[in-house]
Amino acid sequence: MVRENTLTVNDLIYPMFVTEGKAQKVEITSMPGCYRYSLDLLLKEIAEVFELGINAIALFPVIPENKKDDTGTQSYNPDGLIQQTVKAIKQAIPEIVVITDVALDPFTSHGHDGLVDENGTILNDPTVEVLVKMALSQAAAGADFVAPSDMMDGRIGAIRQALDAEGYINVGILAYSAKYASAYYGPFRDALDSAPKFGDKKTYQMDAANAKEALKEIELDIAEGADIIMVKPALAYLDIICRVKSATNLPVAAYNVSGEYAMIKAAAQMGWIDEKQVILESLTSMKRAGADLILTYFAKEVALMLM
Ligand code: PBG
Repeated sequence: MVRENTLTVNDLIYPMFVTEGKAQKVEITSMPGCYRYSLDLLLKEIAEVFELGINAIALFPVIPENKKDDTGTQSYNPDGLIQQTVKAIKQAIPEIVVITDVALDPFTSHGHDGLVDENGTILNDPTVEVLVKMALSQAAAGADFVAPSDMMDGRIGAIRQALDAEGYINVGILAYSAKYASAYYGPFRDALDSAPKFGDKKTYQMDAANAKEALKEIELDIAEGADIIMVKPALAYLDIICRVKSATNLPVAAYNVSGEYAMIKAAAQMGWIDEKQVILESLTSMKRAGADLILTYFAKEVALMLM
């Protein structure tokens, strides 16, 4: 009766991995229970999770090495993997909210989220131009939200302007506004084979030691036209979620990332923790901190638990 926060299936966004080919369902070693699906099986899985009450999915493409290049040209191919996938999902289940990732790392041979010069420096503004093309191709395919996860400066404004100019006025932007340069992304990079081949992402993602900078980043994204603000990772950054929530009236999302998932799965497999209770406690803590939405690889399991 006096409980202040309740986790519900409406809070959940399910991140899913799509790969080329047919009849593929390959488990990700460092993310037990998560799979790379080919489109045919992905559609079946989405139908199942939609049935369970999950209203939104976030898609990530697994691009084969021979289709990656230095500038990520496959990212805006109108017939690319992600674009075809979005079209097929919206045809099969038009009601499900489809969120697409806007960043170059699945598509670049070097694994960075942006274009790099010969010294390995990230080129912010030229990258934003490619991100705009990518977002437009996803909107054309039918994405409901585009979600820039790249952390380039100025990309939210540029994408909003381009979407509006092309008539995609109802496509929303879920901005990865406060995204930290985190070691918790390790298993996700295994899933996509997208670990950076040189350097790290610390020139564009945030320093774990900073909190005020997160507020500056969200302020910029809000001014540029973001519809939902995200903090990522979640568990080690609950204070950031809390501060961000009190700094904005926009919905706040938290990304319960791959490393957070892997830690719980590993400890549970060893029999060292009560998996179900730890999952529910972790996700509830994100709601308590202020998250309105949670991207989590536990979404399907939690939907089943909450039934
Ligand atoms: C990259 C991207 C990453 C994640 C989502 N989009 C990894 C990175 O920034 O290197 C991580 C998600 C997770 O760990 O679950 N644009």
